Amino acid sequence: TKKLILDLDTGVDDALAISYALGSPEVELIGITGTYGNVLLEQGVRNSLAITDLLGHPEVKVYKGLPHSSTTDSFEVLDISAFIHGKNGIGDVDIPDSNREPETESAVDFIIDAVKTYGKDLIYVPTGPMTNIAAALKKAPEIKDEIGKIVLMGGALTVCGNVNGWEEANISQDPEAADYLFRSGAPATMVGLDVTLQTLLTYKETQTWRDLGTKAGNFLADMTDYYIKAYETTSPHLGGCGLHDPLAVGVAVDPTLVTTLPINMKVDVEGPTRGRTIGDNTRMNDPVKTMQAAVQVDVPRFLNEFMTRITALAKN
Ligand code: BDR
Ligand code: CA
Repeated sequence: TKKLILDLDTGVDDALAISYALGSPEVELIGITGTYGNVLLEQGVRNSLAITDLLGHPEVKVYKGLPHSSTTDSFEVLDISAFIHGKNGIGDVDIPDSNREPETESAVDFIIDAVKTYGKDLIYVPTGPMTNIAAALKKAPEIKDEIGKIVLMGGALTVCGNVNGWEEANISQDPEAADYLFRSGAPATMVGLDVTLQTLLTYKETQTWRDLGTKAGNFLADMTDYYIKAYETTSPHLGGCGLHDPLAVGVAVDPTLVTTLPINMKVDVEGPTRGRTIGDNTRMNDPVKTMQAAVQVDVPRFLNEFMTRITALAKN
């Protein structure tokens, strides 16, 4: 089995990403590293601990990452994030706090140690800002050649952004960190809005979870309904909520769910398009492409995997 690290700003779809990973026997979730974004770092870490407990997996260790971007000295949650994910990040649903604490080792050191231990068997899946992985690559540059791969949720190549016409939220929080990762030469698959806005969930599916009559089923249904409702306001044309972060886990588990374009990318860090993910024209002719951008997704197959895995997990 491959080893998986999830790096999360634990909001609603991040919580669904945890569920997908725990429902996937092909991978072992060896740790969750915390970042900021949908919520403050502390709240995200609290959510990750509480959710892994609720889903019956208190063995999953949670590590604290960096609390803000590499170019700022503090972070505040945007109103729009609180609107989409709820003030507590998990649709304002109350679940018991864990009595566990985050690990004392930092997220950055844990990532580096995990690469040293598992090498090519390690898949790292960031679904928030890329701050922690950029810091790890700066501290131990050799890990770019040692890691199995990085499957990130973020960016957009063939569609508009969701912050504005060109910026996706995770990249927007720390464009410099994402650019550092993209240019590092680490093997990375970008699962961006190109594909994640095609994989949508509706009340019909969340009702399946509620019908299980379990604590986990009720939690997942109530939390996700909040998120669907927010999408009805912000993106009524979609007809559901975007399964951004779980799709990245889906691709980590089974890369054949998407079609990818091999392309070395960068992030604009200056000028009016700051935060845009785009092909790096200085590296277009490089024979080696270290990055792939997901441009198509098998929607029915992913949704089926998503529902089957999470429903089985939430049964108990
Ligand atoms: C991404 O931004 C966050 O709000 C979501 O959790 C997801 O990771 C979508 O742009
Ligand atoms: Ca996220």
